[in-house]
Amino acid sequence: MAKDKIVRELEDLPGIGETTAEKMRAAGIDSLEKVAIANPHDLSENFGMSVDAAKKAVQVAKESTTINYSTGAEIFEKRMILGKISTGSDSLNDMIGGGIETNSITESYGKFSSGKTQLGFQLTVNAQQPREKLGLGGNVLFIDTEGTFRPERIKEIAKNSGLDPEDVLKNIIYVRAQTTEQQILTVERADKLIQEKNIKLIVVDSLTALFRAEFIGRGALGERQQKLNMHIHKLQSLSDKYELAVYVTNQVMDNPGILFGDPTTPIGGNVMAHAAGTRLYMRKSKEDKRIVRLVDSPSMPEGECIIRITKDGVKG
Ligand code: GTP
Ligand code: MG
Repeated sequence: MAKDKIVRELEDLPGIGETTAEKMRAAGIDSLEKVAIANPHDLSENFGMSVDAAKKAVQVAKESTTINYSTGAEIFEKRMILGKISTGSDSLNDMIGGGIETNSITESYGKFSSGKTQLGFQLTVNAQQPREKLGLGGNVLFIDTEGTFRPERIKEIAKNSGLDPEDVLKNIIYVRAQTTEQQILTVERADKLIQEKNIKLIVVDSLTALFRAEFIGRGALGERQQKLNMHIHKLQSLSDKYELAVYVTNQVMDNPGILFGDPTTPIGGNVMAHAAGTRLYMRKSKEDKRIVRLVDSPSMPEGECIIRITKDGVKG
């Protein structure tokens, strides 16, 4: 009987057929949770159902959604087994608590040649290492918005890491995004790819460049931030759902409001500041040295360390 029906999709709700479900999804009401908190009168008005039918649908959606409670101890357990990817540098690994974490976003920002892309290449190789070698034994989705992906450089790093360079390249799914739409869609549609290809790291290099180029002027800032926010949320939810790591690079600008000290400020304002679990600020130093500052971290104190970008990859 209908009473025992398992409710998983919008279509399983009473009074909601395929067409209505489609319309609701198009309007952003794409989960039972969203129906559960919807106003029946709004549903009725927007999707052409009676108020009573809408009330019933909301009621059933409420009964079918559960809240997952965990104890602090359980979350601790979960955090202890979070995967980490080595950055290639022991001092950087130590500073951030072992490597870049799964289930969250790690951002690096800094001026040109500060090493953001090179760190992305190193992580792309290291993610493919087994867990005992501080990898995740998985493949990589590399979204390149600047056209700076260099397979020959990755091969070089792979060889030095003891991996087969050809295999390493085969395990990278590469997308060259030329517009913010392409960038956003690649991430929106990544679910299937992630599962089929065992993706354990998503790199977006750079996350902000296209947004910055396309949304120019003060008038466009609101829209830019809103789109960027949704894009970041999707990345965050993928990282949670599939227990993968996300590494994004970000550009900087000189903030004229900062009169004393370093005026270098990452692009993306508050939206970016809240998004990344771990934020790294990278600066050029002498020769192949780079100073990496840990600006934000879920569990480690602020700090600074020095890495080197060598012919074999990130070291130090
Ligand atoms: P933008 O994307 O321009 O903002 O810079 P970025 O922060 O991504 O810099 P990137 O990671 O591309 O760093 C470039 C620097 O890495 C170069 O200036 C070199 O110092 C170093 N580098 C790049 N390729 C090699 C290489 O094959 N061998 C060595 N030894 N160093 C390299
Ligand atoms: Mg770069």
